[in-house]
Amino acid sequence: MLVIRNIGELVLFDADAAPMVNSAALRRINDAYVTVDEHGRIVTFGPDADCVALDWFEVVDAEGGCVVPGLVDFHTHTVFAGTREHEFVMRIEGRSYAEIAEAGGGIKTTVKSVRAASEDELVNLALPRLHRMLGYGVTTVEIKSGYGLSVEDELKMLRAAKRLNDLQPIEVVGTYLAAHTVPAEYTDNREAYLDLVCSDELMGRVVNEGLAEFCDIFTERTAFTIDESRRVLLAGKEQGLIPRLHADQITQIGASKLAAEVGAMSADHLETIDDAGIDAMKSANVIAGLLPGCSWYLGVEQAPARKIIDAGLPVALATDFNPGSSVVESLPLCMNIACTQMKMTPAECLIGATANAAAAINRGQRLGAIREGMQADLVILDVPNLERWMYEAGRNCVRTVIKNGRVAFDRDARNS
Ligand code: NIG
Ligand code: FE
Repeated sequence: MLVIRNIGELVLFDADAAPMVNSAALRRINDAYVTVDEHGRIVTFGPDADCVALDWFEVVDAEGGCVVPGLVDFHTHTVFAGTREHEFVMRIEGRSYAEIAEAGGGIKTTVKSVRAASEDELVNLALPRLHRMLGYGVTTVEIKSGYGLSVEDELKMLRAAKRLNDLQPIEVVGTYLAAHTVPAEYTDNREAYLDLVCSDELMGRVVNEGLAEFCDIFTERTAFTIDESRRVLLAGKEQGLIPRLHADQITQIGASKLAAEVGAMSADHLETIDDAGIDAMKSANVIAGLLPGCSWYLGVEQAPARKIIDAGLPVALATDFNPGSSVVESLPLCMNIACTQMKMTPAECLIGATANAAAAINRGQRLGAIREGMQADLVILDVPNLERWMYEAGRNCVRTVIKNGRVAFDRDARNS
């Protein structure tokens, strides 16, 4: 058994509240404790005065720090090779993300690097990224393919992601994103590429090898149309892959409405969502996945978070970490951006990066909240409350990270 004592503020959510539209279900206990059993599950919690800890319990002293659920980065592209700082400079000089993509750069640049890399190289490049994410308090990360765009290269990316799950503490969830863009060799034959994306040879192997739980697509003027997206997402659904989309990022072509139509678990980005999209997602219970780091990094307008929340949609937050549009590994930084640029409260941001994010990757019953029986993924901060964490922008306030009941990261141990 493990007990965390001397918690300045323990942040809880009411049972089975996720996904949550607002922060009404958030509770706080000051001067609290939490116990965790040998299976890595939360057993009891409450005011520290009520704590019954036996001699043999392993004790972690929170030193008055705030304790929150482990963060869930539910939308990332963490497996990649190569960098694109030249595009970063091109955008500073006035070119847009879409212009760079249309000129053959963007995703296609990273595809070249990933195709040239071995599976081992992809694993070795991603490992330090995941270690840094753990240090920011992230205990679960979803990782997409989408920079291979051929049978062997897509499988290579997803196999790398699967190996990463076993090589370090963060739980890794795979998503099949072969429909990220049409690769150069299929420019004049889109139909044939879509056939490949939906084929037994590729999608079928992804499913048979258990490499992904979700099927994603970039539904956008520079990538795939609504009809093409419907085809891919329904083919995936038929094989047991849960649909999700990159929707309404740059242009409004009806992607969030398609998310509702195909029963997607989340529709992510939503910078250009319209009222019809909000209504459709609400009636189909699609989670709104917002990626504040992406628009911040590209220097463009953020998704209308307040409008989306006020309309009654649950919001989940992720980094969208990738080598082009969001070279941002820190989910707490993205939460801070959601506070300052999208006017989400710290409580809404925490819910978005924990319980709602877990729900967005079908893990809401096990992850994302501090409750009896839930997996003990916990973050101990060096600040006394949630608001102080968000207020201290850009400084890493994470002291200790507990994954599945075990200390997986300890800042002080690292420095000593
Ligand atoms: O979520 N929008 C499409 N895909 C990624 C960017 C990928 C890239 O630029 O490499 C995104 O922003
Ligand atoms: Fe993305």
